[in-house]
Order: sequence, then C-alpha cells, then structure tokens
Amino acid sequence: MCGIIARIGHGDAADTLLSGLENLEYRGYDSAGIAVQNGSGVKVHKCSGEVSDLKSTLSGRPNGNMGIGHTRWSTHGPPTDENAHPHTDTVGDVAVVHNGVIDNYDELRAELKAKGHEFESDTDTEVIPHLIDEYREKTGDTELAVQRAVDTLEGSYAIAAIVDGEEAVYAARKGSPLVLGLDDEEWFLASDVPAFLDHTEDVIYLEDGDLVVLEPDSYRITDLEGQPVDRSVDTVDWDPEDAGKGEYDHYMLKEINTQPTALSNTIEGRIEDGDVDFEDLSAGSFADVDTVQFVACGTSYHAAMYGGQLLRAAGVPTEVLRASEYETTSGPVDENTLVVAVTQSGETADTLDAVRTATSRGARSLAVTNVVGSTAAREADDAIYIRAGPEVGVAATKTYSSQAVTLALLTQQLAADVPDATPAADRAAMLEALESLPEHVETVLETSQAEALARETLDSKSYFFIGSRLGHSVALEGALKFKEITYEHAEGFASGELKHGPLALVTEETPVIAVLTGSGDEKTKTNAIEANSRGAPIIAVGSDGHPLSDVADAQLSIPETHPVWAGLLANVQLQLLSYHAANLLERPIDKPRNLAKSVTVE
Ligand code: AGP
Repeated sequence: MCGIIARIGHGDAADTLLSGLENLEYRGYDSAGIAVQNGSGVKVHKCSGEVSDLKSTLSGRPNGNMGIGHTRWSTHGPPTDENAHPHTDTVGDVAVVHNGVIDNYDELRAELKAKGHEFESDTDTEVIPHLIDEYREKTGDTELAVQRAVDTLEGSYAIAAIVDGEEAVYAARKGSPLVLGLDDEEWFLASDVPAFLDHTEDVIYLEDGDLVVLEPDSYRITDLEGQPVDRSVDTVDWDPEDAGKGEYDHYMLKEINTQPTALSNTIEGRIEDGDVDFEDLSAGSFADVDTVQFVACGTSYHAAMYGGQLLRAAGVPTEVLRASEYETTSGPVDENTLVVAVTQSGETADTLDAVRTATSRGARSLAVTNVVGSTAAREADDAIYIRAGPEVGVAATKTYSSQAVTLALLTQQLAADVPDATPAADRAAMLEALESLPEHVETVLETSQAEALARETLDSKSYFFIGSRLGHSVALEGALKFKEITYEHAEGFASGELKHGPLALVTEETPVIAVLTGSGDEKTKTNAIEANSRGAPIIAVGSDGHPLSDVADAQLSIPETHPVWAGLLANVQLQLLSYHAANLLERPIDKPRNLAKSVTVE
C-alpha cells in the first residue's frame, strides 16, 4: 500500500501534489517524492521520511504544470532515498509512481538488465518505467507503450507516469485503487479522494483494466486494447473540512471527537417506523440467506464480532472470521451464505481475498464499508456505507463506532428477513436508545477523565483489557488501540479467560481495565477481583452502579443506555485513554511506526 497522486492543468503542480500527498500519508509514510515536468526534462525530488521531510529538502517549488507524487509504505526494499518513488528509466525520461505489488518483477528486471537497462533501487516498481521506455523504443507511441507495459505486469498496480517532453499523464489500474478527479481547469488522479478534495468533488472511480490519459484540456479512458470505455461521474459528499485536522492536534483526536456527527450520519434515515431501512436493500432482500459469515481484519474484525454476536442472538447461524485465515477457518459455503466484508477502507487485501474465495464457492456478498467506490463496494453484490466521513488517523476510531452501529442495524434487518430468525424482543427499545447514542457519546467526550487516568497509569508494565459478551470485542478493540499508538504492551481477553494463563503475568504493575456493558458483567467482576487479589489495579469502564463500583481503583463513566450500545460508549472512553497515554508518551499518534491505514498487501 502506498499513496499516489497525479495532476495536470494550468499553473504549477508541485504545491497541489505535496498537499495531496499529506492527505494520503495515512497510506504510508516511509518515504515521499514528486516528479514534475517543467519543459526541460522530468525533475524528480524524493527522500526517505515523511512529506514534511520532502518539503524541507526542496528549496522553493520545482515548476511544471504536470506531475506525479508518492508516499510509501515499504514492501520491496527498506525506506531509503533510492527506494523512494518516483522511479525512472535509465536516462530519466519516464517517471512512475506505483501502489501495489508486481509479482513478476524479478524476471522482468533480469530481462531488462540483459537488454542494458540500469537499475538503482530494490523496488518492484522500478521495472515499470524501464518497460515503458522499452516499448516506447519499439512502438514510438507512449500510450501504446503504457498499454504493453502494464499488460506485461503480474500482480496489482495503480500507476501514474509522466514522460519528458509530453503534455500528458498516463495511468492504469489493476487491483489497487485509483480515482480520477475532474475540476474545471485541472485533472487529478489519486489513490483516494481526500488527495484532491480541496479542488473538486467530481470523481470517476476507475476500474481494473482502465488506462487513462490526461492532457491539459481533456482526458480519455480506454481498456488495455485502446478501446474507449465509459465511466460515470460521481459527486463525493465529503466536506473538504472533513479531510483536514481542523483545530485538533491530531487527526485521531478530531476523529474521536466527531463521533457524534459520524454516528448521526450513520443512523440518519435508516430507522423508519421501528423498522430498519437500508436504502437499496429493501425488506425481504435477505430472505434466501440461511448463514452469515463476517470477514474482517483488525478493528473491523472487532466490529464484526460485535455484529456477529447480535446476529447469533437473533437465531441466525453466524461465523465471524479473521479474513487472513478464511481459507482454513470457514465452514461450508453455498448460495444461501451471505459473506459480509467489514472494511473501513474497502481495500484490505486479506478481506478482499476472503470475499473472493467465498463468492467463488457460491456465496452472496455484501460490503460494509466507509469508502464509496472502494474495491469491496464495487466487487460485492451489495454495499452498505457506514457514512463516517473520511478517517485519516491510522488508528480506526469513528469508523469502528459507525461500523458497529451499521452492523447492529443490519442484524435487525437480517433477523426480519431470514426464515426462523427472531428480531430482538426489545427491538423497539434498542432502536429508540440508538437515537440517543450520539448525545451519549457527546457526554462521554465532555466528561471523560481518561487523560488524568492515562497520566496515573503511565508507568505500568502491561495493560490488560477484559470484557464479556459484547464487552469482549470492546476489550479486544481497547487493547489493539492501546498497543497500536502507545507502543506499550496491551492485551485483550474474554473476562473468563484471564485465569486460564494470563493471570500469571498479573502484578501491581498490570492494570486490568474491565469493560462493563450491563450484560455478562458478573463474569467480568469475578475475574477482575481475582486479578485484584494478585495486586492488579482495576479500572472499571461502565455506567454508575456497575458491579465493580466497590472494588475498582478508578472508573471511566458512561451514561446509562441499552446494553447493546453500552460497549460503544465504553469504547469511546478506551479510545481517549489510548490517545492521552500516547500523547503523554509523545508518540506519533496519527502515524504509528510500521503501520499504514489500509493494508493492501497480504
Ligand atoms: C485499526 O486501528 C487498524 N488501523 C487496523 O486494524 C484496521 O482496522 C485493519 O487494517 C482493517 O482495515 P479496514 O477496515 O480498512 O479493512
């Protein structure tokens, strides 16, 4: 995974490329680079580090009305200056940025070397400019050369290329996202919309096999044989403000704090007279479903656990599977199986693979995603959008809440449609309580004592998060968030599991954070007390009067609500705890080491 951008139009491209790359850094921040055409050759500027490092190496801005840019999450070769994109052919006439993985790069590199091409990096990408150069020599036509070059590639790619002396940007995609942005006076290509949202909301989501040529006053999309293809223009309803940090120090803090709005958007118009209404998926849409499989990774997996538990309670046979292990963990699949891909980005390779495996076995597919036009949304039979707005911080926060709410609503629709399933007996109360969820989140945000608690517990050796039933998935999510951004050791457990091994690690330096949702709390209480007897401080996260009130050393309070939603309020407290601990430890909160937001490699 990486972020790519291209721009052509009137006026200089460099500033637009650099600010676009900043909005794409969630995809990787190991190195950054741009290449611009300024009438006297293609000029490449690149270095290891973040876009801010690249900016500081530039004295002034290179001029040229067209250019390409890249921010990298390393796959082939370490994050060095040489491995930073753009890469060029031997003489530097062709510059390319690439997101994806070229599987046959070894043999292509050997063939090209045998023909005299010289390579400078360890990357798979570098073969692409050399191939384009090779085919240009043969055909004398760059568009044809790009067609031939990408036809030779095996693997996944979204690429953009510029060529010395040509007023054009060439691009192609297969298996990696690429969006075309259309403004009055300039065209953009990027891995994701926030890269150019400041300039335009009109986009074309490109499809696999599309090849694009942008010229200053026109663009064309063809297939790999050069035949024109028609793609519709969509309008993105994200506000450019949503893509920025606003008044906040970090995207993560902004995203935690904007959860009330995100949740209101998630819910809006989806509850009609006590029934769930998912736009295109009308009542009865799931009447032929008899089994549901959720597939997801990381935080999305925790949201899927949440939804899966509710669906099982409604009597629908349900599996919640880690997408990366789908092959070996999935039960039988047929045309009555609904496989639900839960993925914020809609681009996670493991999740996409699991869905492809399930559909190749006959399953029907549904994507639950945040990103319109993402691969998951396009490949699945149906898509439901969680409508959380752009999330830039690598740590997923508002999208987890919006995913869990969307899945809870989906559960109610499935329970109504699937034969023999029963909607929750207190469904009316549950849906009514949902309407107050954004307000309750607001209360948590305004009253949270998480910062003080983070300060008090900062010297701990390890942090254990426990919870039962719906609280179990929240405990896992709390621990994932904590380790991801603080770099401190944190683990999440089902409350009852603590005594089956992890208790051996418990000391007075291992706080146990107990998630209390109003269901399964007795088990959490018993196990927390067992840890407390071995010296562990107990932090209870729950509403007033929870069963650990007399035992807990500290408490993070949540408003009283329906047990189905309590875990989501507890999770907001855990997000804040992680955020403040990481902030006190001066971690790079939005860009934790070694991670990237969407993981498009296996
Ligand atoms: C969570 O904070 C992580 N960034 C990560 O676990 C993430 O949820 C996972 O990679 C799945 O991403 P997706 O939702 O885009 O598929």
